[in-house]
Amino acid sequence: MRQFTSIPALRQHLSTLDPAQTVALVPTMGALHEGHLALVEQAREENDVVICSIFVNPVQFNNPADLALYPRTLDADQALLEPAGCDVIFAPAADEMYPEPPALMLNFGELETVMEGAMRPGHFNGVGIVVAKLFNIVQPHRAYFGQKDLQQVAVVRRLIRDLSFPIELIRFPTVREPDGLALSSRNRNLTSTERQQAPALYEALTMAHDLLRGAQSVTQAKAAVTALFADRPGFRLEYVEVANADTLQPVTEVLAPGQTAICIAAHLGHVRLIDNLVF
Ligand code: PAF
Repeated sequence: MRQFTSIPALRQHLSTLDPAQTVALVPTMGALHEGHLALVEQAREENDVVICSIFVNPVQFNNPADLALYPRTLDADQALLEPAGCDVIFAPAADEMYPEPPALMLNFGELETVMEGAMRPGHFNGVGIVVAKLFNIVQPHRAYFGQKDLQQVAVVRRLIRDLSFPIELIRFPTVREPDGLALSSRNRNLTSTERQQAPALYEALTMAHDLLRGAQSVTQAKAAVTALFADRPGFRLEYVEVANADTLQPVTEVLAPGQTAICIAAHLGHVRLIDNLVF
């Protein structure tokens, strides 16, 4: 496994690859867990060369405290990536990616107006900029993103279409702990009590799913989720939404199979958790 921190050095290495080889990119911010490794393993199965980027992208954090709290574990990440089948780590410093603050502004239209877009102004601009930069630097054939960040997947899909990147986007299913908690780098910031409470997100998602499948309305399902969190000390529900799984726009009834997403964001202590269920 090779590791690069400079863009020219990575480009030089990539220029030596056989053009017939397929290249996969798994973009991450590090603090890797089994969810990331599942992306890398999938990429390994489907491609000749697997590149994992590790970069805590300051431009996508609208909250400086959140950026400061974000775990950085490069040594542990390196040790996990080789056995998972990664060929190349790209771990640039912030000034390598941004010698000056980017002037570019990306606006993802209605995707910016709901859920993560509404709650975290500027977040998807930062995600779009860094992902576009990574796509330009690596020029992968396939890029792998986890479904846990469903709205991010929609943003990247839009970026690929709008900028004509010849890249296949792979949305990989959310990997969960046995108790249902979606794997996330933020989980390590939970106290042991909070960790025990955290599966409430998945409990709420499955409850809403069952209600919707049982012909309850979207309004009733959302009200039930709100009531569930009102009963759980430590939690502050930020939103629960039932949406089109591709456009993330709210819906008032269940769509065709695979098209409906239930999305939740909640604060538990100092940690903000998101999760979703697509059905
Ligand atoms: O999902 C993440 O870890 C980040 O948003 C990404 C896609 C690596 C961009 O910084």
